[in-house]
Amino acid sequence: MNILLVGSGGREHAMACRIAESERCSALFVAPGNAGTARVKKCCNVDVDPLDFEALRAVVHRHDIDMLVVGPEAPLVAGVTDFFAANSDLRNVMVVGPGRAGAQLEGSKDFAKQFMQRHGIPTAAYRSFAAGEAAEGVAFLGSLQAPYVLKADGLAAGKGVLIVDSLDEARHELRAMLEGKFGQASAKVVVEQYLDGVELSVFVLTDGKHYKILPTAKDYKRIGEGDTGLNTGGMGSVSPVHFADRRFMQKVEERIVAPTVRGLSRDGIPYKGFIFVGLMAVADRATGELDPYVIEYNVRMGDPETECVFPRITSDVVDLFERVWRGNLQQTELTVDPRAAACVMMVSGGYPGHYAKGKPIQGVEQVTDCQVFHAGTSLADDGRLVTSGGRVLCVTALADSMPMAMLKSYQELAKISWEDCYFRRDIGQDLLKMLV
Ligand code: AMP
Ligand code: GLY
Repeated sequence: MNILLVGSGGREHAMACRIAESERCSALFVAPGNAGTARVKKCCNVDVDPLDFEALRAVVHRHDIDMLVVGPEAPLVAGVTDFFAANSDLRNVMVVGPGRAGAQLEGSKDFAKQFMQRHGIPTAAYRSFAAGEAAEGVAFLGSLQAPYVLKADGLAAGKGVLIVDSLDEARHELRAMLEGKFGQASAKVVVEQYLDGVELSVFVLTDGKHYKILPTAKDYKRIGEGDTGLNTGGMGSVSPVHFADRRFMQKVEERIVAPTVRGLSRDGIPYKGFIFVGLMAVADRATGELDPYVIEYNVRMGDPETECVFPRITSDVVDLFERVWRGNLQQTELTVDPRAAACVMMVSGGYPGHYAKGKPIQGVEQVTDCQVFHAGTSLADDGRLVTSGGRVLCVTALADSMPMAMLKSYQELAKISWEDCYFRRDIGQDLLKMLV
């Protein structure tokens, strides 16, 4: 079949590699893709904005597309799935990604919290406040203990969460958010209890009734080593996460994944696609056992978690996607490579602040023992590979143990360079420290 994949990051490059490997895939188109997806066999980039649904429709007609796989959240929240369902010429395209109603799990933190409360899913205690309710919000903050967690309700490009230590600052920030600090996204603000624990990401693929839990991963969001400095799109990831053992994952499935899929169905929300559950593993005060709490839902795969998770999935992903569409995901087994994966993101100097673009990249073809996924690259007029974003390349290694995967990733990425390139040298180190 002919497949259209929407997106342009490392996540989409990693997905494109697995999709193209499937015998079921005849041709793959990526809208708009990057210099990495352009090199994947069977694959061709199409210069289309993921939010331009009419342009996507034209691609479907021009290339006889049978399946649409949506990488990022923006087209989902904007209703690309509903658009395909509402038009008779697109209705038969198998779409992997929820409609606008399901995408609210990511598009509105208040919606997600209400959903979790309604279905008894463990999450931090919270209250939401709208523009006219700043005084109530300020009073509520006084009833909590530091640190204070404030979240813009809507999509704020990953910047809408503030964690502050002082009550005065929290009150000030709450007012600023309600007055438009993050534009429309913070017209409503969720104030919630701080959870002290270790984060991890759990990914679920669901047909709306059945589900498969994909390999766990942990990402590293801060720019600086030791988790310091500004938040980024993600500086690396590892999979699996060792403390998410059978017992912990059983709790995740029973308390979170099953009630989430059941809850969507009970609420009458059709959902075919990925659910990314951001979790905090919190140690029980009495027993010390780890319990999972949901920090957030996303309605897509994570980036750079996908760059570790997808290389470990050995099932035919196109077959999985078709089953998601047809509603018979239960009839197949998910198979996973037992090896560990580590990926390190190489970024432009200055990121996540101002950075230069168009820097020529050397050495990618010297990498033999790792997969290099492109995040922000393009081809210059002379055909040279150049940087075109903050996050540029992601180097993923698979090995028999996590330390070996980390070592391999760092050894191989040393072959790649460009002027003013930066990467964190401590991806995965915190997990290794937990082991000793
Ligand atoms: P989010 O955009 O909801 O993922 O939040 C961004 C980051 O803020 C998360 O990855 C966590 O590190 C942190 N965070 C969010 N909610 C909480 C919470 N209730 N307690 C502690 N940390 C949190
Ligand atoms: N890696 C976190 C995200 O994709 O949102």
